[in-house]
Amino acid sequence: MPKQIQSPAGPAHARILGVGGYRPSRVVTNEQICQVIDSTDEWITTRTGIKERRWATAEETVGMMSVSAAGKALAAAGIEPEQLGLVIISTVTHLAQTPSLAAIVANELGAVNAAAFDVSAACAGFCHGLALAQDAVRGGSAEYVLVIGVERLSDLTDMNDRSTAFIFGDGAGAAVVGPSDTPAIGPVVWGADGAQYEAIGQTFSWDALREQPELGFPALRMNGQQVFRWASYQMVPVAKKALEKAGITAEDLDAFIPHQANMRITDAMIKALKLPDNVPVARDIARTGNTSAASIPLAMERMLEEGEAPHGGLALLIGFGAGLVYAAQVVQLP
Ligand SMILES: CC(C)(COP(=O)(O)OP(=O)(O)OC[C@H]1O[C@@H](n2cnc3c(N)ncnc32)[C@H](O)[C@@H]1OP(=O)(O)O)[C@@H](O)C(=O)NCCC(=O)NCCS
Repeated sequence: MPKQIQSPAGPAHARILGVGGYRPSRVVTNEQICQVIDSTDEWITTRTGIKERRWATAEETVGMMSVSAAGKALAAAGIEPEQLGLVIISTVTHLAQTPSLAAIVANELGAVNAAAFDVSAACAGFCHGLALAQDAVRGGSAEYVLVIGVERLSDLTDMNDRSTAFIFGDGAGAAVVGPSDTPAIGPVVWGADGAQYEAIGQTFSWDALREQPELGFPALRMNGQQVFRWASYQMVPVAKKALEKAGITAEDLDAFIPHQANMRITDAMIKALKLPDNVPVARDIARTGNTSAASIPLAMERMLEEGEAPHGGLALLIGFGAGLVYAAQVVQLP
């Protein structure tokens, strides 16, 4: 028999202590998008709910946006960078295979005691990061965890593609997760359906450039209708299960903060969930577009800042996207 070793142990519960966001300075309206593609402000607004989005300037890199959002989240949480034991960044637009963006950002923040790694779970990335953060805190691997969702989707957008040019935006959102006396992050409901991997992806992978350098730079492409149907119908049971696992019903919610993919997907979910009319719903997509991993923390920050959702209230989060992958949980808002 080998000598018995110690198991890690942490506090019984974890919570979001603070959130922060970064919105790039450049506002891009539907009219500007329609100068390139054959479309109209009316079509984009009615089909997606998007009126404008933010596209990063050259200086607004994924690293710069992450550090800025993280600084706000740390200040809101009252936590110093040295107290972080882990930095998780969810992104699909850190355009270097290695090192991770998280290692770079942790260094810039002065998070000298933190492990750091990136997660690739597309538009479900923030909810994946949050689940990992809560497990790390409760498991005793880290006392405080910084979760960042950041994207520069404009880098991977073909401005001439009529099926995607109007959807995506750039930005960063961050949350600090730490110990809690009471339950404040519910069980995650997550999964992956890799059989639908072709629904959203790159036009070609980086290694294709070795054979065909003339291909240029890849862009995101998606089968809009397939994604729309999947998200509108198959994500509802996932959301219901997250409520059930947290031990609450839709009536108990103080906010619904779904991934900001398309306002019509959000509306379909509200109806199917029978969400009471008085529950505020994140509609940040109108001014921010679809910012993938950044969309939920950005929407959460805006709802709290504008007094739309109450501090300490219960919010249902659900992220879904390329993979296809998804993750949902109920959280107590910071
Ligand atoms: C992308 C999306 C807005 C397209 O809307 P849609 O209603 O499915 O559009 P379709 O591709 O079926 O096209 C419908 C019509 O609009 C037209 N159309 C397509 N793109 C257009 C555009 N940019 N401007 C104007 N008309 C357009 C089509 O030509 C078609 O015309 P027709 O009926 O005369 O043939 C929608 O599918 C969607 O939001 N899907 C989910 C995407 C998403 O959330 N992705 C992120 C996942 S995390």
